[in-house]
Amino acid sequence: MSTDKPEDLPSEEELGQMSRDELVKLGSKLDGVELVEYPDPWPVKGTRAEKRAERQVAFWFALSGIAGLAFVVAFIWWPARYVAPDQDGYLMYSLYTPVIGVTLGVAILGIGIGVLNYTRKFVPHEIAVQQRHDGGSSEIDKATILANLADAGNRSTIARRPMIKRSLAFGGGVLGLALTAVPLGGLLRNPHAQSDNKDGLLHTPWQHTKKDEKVFLRRVTGDNDELSLVRPEDLDGGAMETVFPYREGDTHEDWVKMLKRGDSPVMLIRLRPHDAARVIKHEGQEDFNYGDYYAYTKICSHVGCPTSLFESRSNRILCPCHQSQFDALQYAKPVFGPATRKLAQLPIAVDEETGYFISTGDFIEPIGPAYWERKS
Ligand code: FES
Repeated sequence: MSTDKPEDLPSEEELGQMSRDELVKLGSKLDGVELVEYPDPWPVKGTRAEKRAERQVAFWFALSGIAGLAFVVAFIWWPARYVAPDQDGYLMYSLYTPVIGVTLGVAILGIGIGVLNYTRKFVPHEIAVQQRHDGGSSEIDKATILANLADAGNRSTIARRPMIKRSLAFGGGVLGLALTAVPLGGLLRNPHAQSDNKDGLLHTPWQHTKKDEKVFLRRVTGDNDELSLVRPEDLDGGAMETVFPYREGDTHEDWVKMLKRGDSPVMLIRLRPHDAARVIKHEGQEDFNYGDYYAYTKICSHVGCPTSLFESRSNRILCPCHQSQFDALQYAKPVFGPATRKLAQLPIAVDEETGYFISTGDFIEPIGPAYWERKS
């Protein structure tokens, strides 16, 4: 409170009887504020210029609402599952990210430009000079500042502009819905809906579906019709290769389907001999490796990014998303960053008949990050 004459202050009873205009003036006076200019932005009501300004503001809010709606629709229904470049539907798939990015961007931009326009064209641009004071605010200060805020709202004439109010409610409401859809969308979907079995999150395409089935380790060459399986002599010490499961008789379509699955990529790592001698194996997984070769899921145990980087000098597997690091010499246990679980290890061997790597079974623990039903 800046006044030096408390005896001039109105009593609480007088305060309650004062109009908003009087409170605004009192508030200015008490705070030593001098209103140099306090113009009404539209002194003549209902002019064409005023209506045009109103329509412009409403346009941006409405555009925001439409873009927000488009975002929600695209986020939920746009075909976002991976489609290979040589398949039908690739164009739609490749447009998913741009579409949700552009629609959400326009929705946020529309609200922003609408608010800026409204402030510029309808809120009075007063020039005021105010003295600063120390300490907290008194009851009088609080009452008068509320009156000031109400007065600003009143002078901005929002109350008599239903078009702007409705368009703002539409744009703001839909944008709110759009922002809610992002975190809620993942919770509404049934994670088991597209699984081959009811324990879909516990199993991966490496699971053997019949006795003595051979699931080979196949590399990606860029040509989906080229079958390239991996043999031990293909990798030098310190090398890493990304592999996917392949069964004899798999068709082109089966292979493309395998590439789409987030739970199938595996890092096959060949340790250098002197590093392999220092390996500490996980209890119960002592025979999961084949000599110097170790296979770990590529799905990070933090939030599921691909841990595509293997640094052979330190024997660390790196996840580029949040910089988690896993020690390949200690069953890929996390040694740095936010990940708290080791990377799941795939049991591998070499097929005696063909000389190619095979998996001897599925992972024995869930891959990737935590989920509600996960026990480990
Ligand atoms: Fe790998 Fe976060 S997803 S560190």
